[in-house]
Order: sequence, then structure tokens, then C-alpha cells
Amino acid sequence: MTSDYSQNPQFSLQSLELLAPAGNNDWDSDLYQDKHAFVWQYGEDLLKLLNPKPGEYILDLGCGTGQLTEKIALAGAEVMGIDSAPAMIEKAKQNYPHLLFNVADARSFQVDQPLDAVFSNATLHWVKEPEDAIACVYQALKPGGRFLAEFGGKGNIQAIAQALYTALEAVGIAAQTLNPWYFPSIGEYATLLEQQGFNVAYGILFARPTALAEKEAGMANWLQMFASAFLAELSPEQQTQVISQIEQSLKPTLYSESTWTADYKRLRILAFKI
Ligand code: BEZ
Repeated sequence: MTSDYSQNPQFSLQSLELLAPAGNNDWDSDLYQDKHAFVWQYGEDLLKLLNPKPGEYILDLGCGTGQLTEKIALAGAEVMGIDSAPAMIEKAKQNYPHLLFNVADARSFQVDQPLDAVFSNATLHWVKEPEDAIACVYQALKPGGRFLAEFGGKGNIQAIAQALYTALEAVGIAAQTLNPWYFPSIGEYATLLEQQGFNVAYGILFARPTALAEKEAGMANWLQMFASAFLAELSPEQQTQVISQIEQSLKPTLYSESTWTADYKRLRILAFKI
């Protein structure tokens, strides 16, 4: 494998539109990698369901800093990771220089060789045009190819989001208009997949409370990393006020033994191209 696509014509992206996605795409890849490792650590469970086989061509959609892409490669598959955030791809290439990574948007990517599988962990809740992403995945797969995704589903981070909206309203910000997240139900996402022509084989929505690193600072760090779209408009003083109000209101339910827990709900779905 090589990171120079021109040397691997078997597996390349074609006609890429490097669209700036809606919302904040300016990720701090060091902070992501060092303080939010749970994102891919939980994803390892999903890899068992993917069951990558030697020689299969697999796309890791929303690869972040590349940890799961590498696991897929270690199973012997030919894998490429794509992510819309240039900083993530830069870090992924540094981490795994022998693997293929590229900046690409979930709503507009194309591959020039049909794939055996598209895998996506903790990404699709950022894609508010799900039909576009599903159409790209469909186009990228061979007939019979599989699409396995896990992301935030209906009810995801409900308590955190509610506390965030309330705290923002208190400083005069209408939070809903800034919302960068998409948390569908099984029925909603399965319907979109079927409308595209997929057979949906499996879907589950489950609570996965997730302990945040960094002890007392865990919730503030999470908000700064993942809720930056809401905080960007605020002055530093307002940010401090909003974060501390959120912490106060969530402390009774999401903080215990010096650890914050995020109230994640995951939607896991497996579908096959007919
Ligand atoms: C999630 O993984 O469910 C998630 C992460 C950041 C923001 C929203 C949801």
C-alpha cells in the first residue's frame, strides 16, 4: 500500500469535490487523538461486525486520525480512509504513512473501483444531508457490497443538548439554528437506505453511556471539541459562563466519582447493495 494514489490505480478517488462541509471543519486533531480516544476504542467493537477479509476493498468513511483504518488494514483488506477535515487526514497520514488517506466529503465522494464494503464510525451524525451520503455510499459499492455504520441516533446526548440549549438561551443565542448534528431513528435511516436501493439487514439503537477522559475537565473538553459550532459566536467570558452553567445543570445526573459520562445513544446499521 502507498499513500501516493497514482501508484495504486486499483483504489482511488475520482472527481473529488473538496467541499467545505456545513459546520465547523476546523478540528484540533491532537486534542481529538489525545483526549477523545474513546471514539475509536468503542469503534473496535464495530469492526467485529465488519469482519474485513484479506483482499477486500474497504472505505473507512470519516476515518479521523486513522486508528480504525489501520485495524481494517491489519486484517489484510485494502483500505482507504477519507475525512472532510484536512487536519485529521494530515494526522492520519503521520500516524500510518503506509496507508491511503484523503480529504473528501461524505456527501460528494466517488471511487473509481466498486468496493466490497463501506465502514463508518462516529461520523454520520455530522452529515445533515443523509440522502447525499447514502447515494455516494451506494454508488461506491459492488452489488452485494455492505455498508456498516454506527453514529449518534435518536435521543443521543439528550441531556447534554438540553443543558446546552438552555445555557445558550440565557445569553440570547437561539441554539437550534446552530445545530450541526443529525440523530435519526432506526426507521428514519432505514427508510432512506431502502429508498436508495439498499436491503437493510440489521439495525439497533442502544444507549452507550461514555465516560469522558480528563476527570473534572471532561465535560468542558467535550463541549469545546464537539459543540464548538454553538460556542464559536460567544466571547471567552460567555463561553466560560455557558460551560459552567451546563456543568452545574448536568452534575447531578452525569457526574460521579470525579468522572463525567456523556449520554450517548448509538445507531448501528448494516445494509447491502442489491
Ligand atoms: C457522538 O459521537 O455521538 C457525538 C459526538 C459529538 C457530537 C455529537 C455526537
